[in-house]
Amino acid sequence: MNPDKTVKIGLIGAGAIGSFHGESIARRVHGAQLAAIADPAAEAAQRLAERLHCASATTDARQIIADPAIDAVIIATPARFHSELIVMAAEAGKAVFCEKPMALTIAEADRAIAAARAAKVPLQVGFNRRYDKAWSEAQRSVAAGALGTPQLLRSLTRDPGLADPARVPPWAIFLETLIHDFDTLRFFNPGSEVVEVYAIADALVRPDFKSRGLLDTALVSLRFDNGAMACAEANFQAAYGYDVRGEVFGSGGMIKMGDVRCSNATHFGANGINSPTTRLNTDLFHDAYTAQLAEFVETIHSGQVRGPTGEAARAALAIALACIRSVAEARPVRLTEVLPA
Ligand SMILES: NC(=O)c1ccc[n+]([C@@H]2O[C@H](COP(=O)([O-])OP(=O)(O)OC[C@H]3O[C@@H](n4cnc5c(N)ncnc54)[C@H](O)[C@@H]3O)[C@@H](O)[C@H]2O)c1
Repeated sequence: MNPDKTVKIGLIGAGAIGSFHGESIARRVHGAQLAAIADPAAEAAQRLAERLHCASATTDARQIIADPAIDAVIIATPARFHSELIVMAAEAGKAVFCEKPMALTIAEADRAIAAARAAKVPLQVGFNRRYDKAWSEAQRSVAAGALGTPQLLRSLTRDPGLADPARVPPWAIFLETLIHDFDTLRFFNPGSEVVEVYAIADALVRPDFKSRGLLDTALVSLRFDNGAMACAEANFQAAYGYDVRGEVFGSGGMIKMGDVRCSNATHFGANGINSPTTRLNTDLFHDAYTAQLAEFVETIHSGQVRGPTGEAARAALAIALACIRSVAEARPVRLTEVLPA
């Protein structure tokens, strides 16, 4: 594709993160145009299209996928629709950016990857943390050997609140939340794979929803094939804000990333010292969310995915599925148990 051409992007899903991605394409990412928005909630699509001056809003994603003028799609629907939409978009020759989790089963992930490969279209997945300055700096340090051999890795996510526990999909703590941490841990230990996990999880925030399958707190230990050990944890309701942190400890040193404070300003007053904290993912990772889409636009031109691929999404999904089995069966689970032989 001509590198000077403005790429036309269709947004599929105009909810919380889709709206932010639509805004990034329309206002923050160079060389891209938000050409169409699809959401079965007609008002959501229409309202976003008006706000972002996007020419087309529809209730049917297939219209966007069938439109020959559209170069690429961003899929930001609930996870259960992701893999089918990827397959449809790839078969129509569109470059695909899909939110995490890319799929809910390994078979679905394999179908999505195979469809993109067969159509020779790039497939990039929304593991935005890789694009945060601190996370990418840490990864570069690890890759350059500055930390020696990674031995202990750590990644945690504490969401700021659980607005509507009834809407949380089954096993979301692993499939939707910790899947970010699993990608991060793999990102920090390049070339190695997780071979075994042991996960515990419970409903500590909303015990009244436990009988409906909601688990809101989880802790996972992971073992990599190069011997490194890792720990991931998540909770859906941190009283103090949206808190995401990581750490790599190796034979040559340590690197830490993540800061819940909105900025490095510290307020001194009559009641002591105070630092306001971040409450929204789109505030904490504002620049990372934007950077991943800027890179996606480059990917549409080059055809080469530099960021998180479908294969990376499959690997993180396999870890999440192993954790689910670990919780269900209260035992360590090897990744080979959830992957096809
Ligand atoms: N990377 C991140 O940090 C991050 C943050 C938030 C959400 N997400 C992921 O993004 C996805 C969406 O999450 P959300 O919080 O925006 O959900 P949401 O419920 O706010 O929005 C989803 C939207 O998709 C629409 N939709 C449903 N089926 C559709 C279809 N077939 N075609 C088009 N639109 C459809 C819904 O009507 C809704 O407006 C989830 O997979 C979630 O895990 C990722």
